[in-house]
Amino acid sequence: MLRRIRQTADKPLGGFPHYADTETGIWTVTPDGDWTGGFWVGLLWLAYLATRQEQFRIWANQWSAKLLPRSNSETVFRCFLFYYGGAIGDILFGDDASRETGLLGAEGLMQQYNPDAGLIPLGTKAEEASSVGKEHTNIDSSMSIALLGWAGQKTGNSKLLKVGVQHARKHIELCIRPDGSVCQSASFDPKTGRLLYRYTHKGLSDTSTWARAQAWAMLGYSMATKWAPETGEFLEAATKVTDWWIKNCPKDYVAFWDFDDPQIPQAHRDTSATAIAVASMLKLAPVAGARGGAYRAFAERTVETLVRDYLTPTSPNDTRPAGILTSGCYDMRRGLATNHELVWGSYFLFEALQSLIGRLDPRAI
Ligand code: GLY
Repeated sequence: MLRRIRQTADKPLGGFPHYADTETGIWTVTPDGDWTGGFWVGLLWLAYLATRQEQFRIWANQWSAKLLPRSNSETVFRCFLFYYGGAIGDILFGDDASRETGLLGAEGLMQQYNPDAGLIPLGTKAEEASSVGKEHTNIDSSMSIALLGWAGQKTGNSKLLKVGVQHARKHIELCIRPDGSVCQSASFDPKTGRLLYRYTHKGLSDTSTWARAQAWAMLGYSMATKWAPETGEFLEAATKVTDWWIKNCPKDYVAFWDFDDPQIPQAHRDTSATAIAVASMLKLAPVAGARGGAYRAFAERTVETLVRDYLTPTSPNDTRPAGILTSGCYDMRRGLATNHELVWGSYFLFEALQSLIGRLDPRAI
């Protein structure tokens, strides 16, 4: 994976790597980072952590700076852009420029908060929001608490963490079903935050469980246990959605793109959802008491499968570029990148690997 990161960074790409063809390794890029540019910066920081080669730090700073204009773009997915593209450079290395970038993103995100509803809506520039208004949200943004908690700590402004807590709390009600499965999206009353209806942007149907909805919830609530441990509500939510994943996961550990696709076992997998789930379990395990060992063991077995069966080369005669996490499914409904390398999938697998070899405390980031 390090080789893949270096080869990607070494070439003029014309934008942020977004998803790649798994035969050729050629990236489709986005000029402004879309919602995924932060994961590329995060990969570069983790590569620096792994190698301490100065070039990775330089690249991380260069790409992070390119995200700066996005601090003003009205999307809740600034949580991804500015946590992975800003905050973690500060958390891991005390990097000043990254700190400034992360704080600008957090400041912008705060301006989008709706205090009446108690959440940050998708925003007009969010990928999923092109046709929806101010009364829509989704679980993908639940990790906003990490960006806002970190920024609150840096600035001494306790309001940021409060907003992050409120946003995460609201999504328990809006998106988590009683059985622990997760529905991606919800429409709410912008004056009260009351749930109007649940639906999906990228899943099979409004009642199915899209794998990434489940995985984003696992990530958001596992991270929330770090920033607001006192109430126990986020530990309960994280445990509930993680247990559902473990109970419903295929026997070979790699999720199909939607848990309810009738084509299973012929349906597409989504290794990116699986990688997010793994990184989340590693964050949850240390605080999950008696369940912690099971979460870590499940994460280890899942990573073994991802690396053996989905990370190139997957056989001795595999001629594809090495270090590609194959079989990510970006958007089945639009038929977009349904069997590709996805930059966030690679990020979370690489993060999990750094944690498993003991180079990274999974709860640090
Ligand atoms: N909206 C984030 C995702 O597609 O997973």
